[in-house]
Amino acid sequence: MQTLRLCANDHSIKHAAGIIRAGGLVAFPTETVYGLGGNAFDGTAVEKIFEAKERPAWDPLIVHVSSREMLEALIAQVPAQFDNLFAAFMPGPLTLVVPKKNTVPSVVSAGRETVAVRFPANAVAQRLIAASGLPIAAPSANRFGHVSPTAAEHVLADLDGRIDAVVDGGRCEIGVESTVLDLSGAVPVILRQGAVTPKQLRKILGDVMLADPAAPFHPQEGLPSPGMMPRHYSPRTKLVLTEGREKALVGAIQERAKQRVGALIPSGWSICAAETFEWGSWGDWALLASRLYAGLRWLDEQKLDLIIAPLPSEEGLGGAIRERLLKASAGAMYPPLGGWRG
Ligand code: TXA
Ligand code: MG
Repeated sequence: MQTLRLCANDHSIKHAAGIIRAGGLVAFPTETVYGLGGNAFDGTAVEKIFEAKERPAWDPLIVHVSSREMLEALIAQVPAQFDNLFAAFMPGPLTLVVPKKNTVPSVVSAGRETVAVRFPANAVAQRLIAASGLPIAAPSANRFGHVSPTAAEHVLADLDGRIDAVVDGGRCEIGVESTVLDLSGAVPVILRQGAVTPKQLRKILGDVMLADPAAPFHPQEGLPSPGMMPRHYSPRTKLVLTEGREKALVGAIQERAKQRVGALIPSGWSICAAETFEWGSWGDWALLASRLYAGLRWLDEQKLDLIIAPLPSEEGLGGAIRERLLKASAGAMYPPLGGWRG
């Protein structure tokens, strides 16, 4: 199959919407990362998403909408907190896990009674969904387990020839995936951190739990969110993390002087390594989030033995970056967390 590369004008978006209506797959930009979309009501189209990504069938998808009406048409019982969350964060980088209507095929939700729904803020995403007139099921447009795409080139690097089209809407502004909030239990649980932070959610909801990203992984039983696997969002090159200080990063690189090491380097840090990606100003977590995946993908192409990155604080989008880096490295810290004495 040849993958069409479409620009984001009205004509191309209409064409892309026609592909979705006909049961095909289109990758498109959102404000977080690119998604790989298909008609959420068409089980066969949704199965094709799993095949193209090589994603296991037990990992459910997010359904994207372009209006509140479309969103409510997917939900069996609208949760009590829904109005306040909608007013504060939608459209935007927040995904809600809610009880699903039977009209949503079970392949979308991997057999669960819940469905994950999101109303993206990105104008191209909204125009594509509206032009299709259908909710669009879309995971991130990467091969399963790999780094999520924040540009059309990243989508093609993983999926060229496996999908019908990609709509090129430029770089994704936020750069890490949406916050996933599970509203199906007694207490709301953040399954994945993102640009909508725990602090912002607590202001509206009061009690909110944070799922433990290090929780044991059981695909078939009791897994709060299948994306919470120990290794995810990963470059192919081994990744090691250090504490978020210049001295710790220098020490970790010096320790591996015999290897070809690449690093994500905060601006102004004086670091010597075989390949460096200038990440951005340390502490500007929003900027660092937007450049994280492009940096990991670029370093991954440099034929390195190892990639090293410093770990941000929990503040703002730092929490989401931390979570992604800890997953991408399967928790490999140098020295082990808390062990640095320098
Ligand atoms: O920003 C994003 O959320 C992007 C863009 C394209 O919208 N999408 C994305 O999709 O990151 P994906 O499939 O890569 O991640 C969706 C996450 C996974 O961890 C999945 O397991 C979880 O949401 N999820 C989906 N449905 C769920 C459900 N019913 N219950 C629990 N977790 C669910
Ligand atoms: Mg993903």
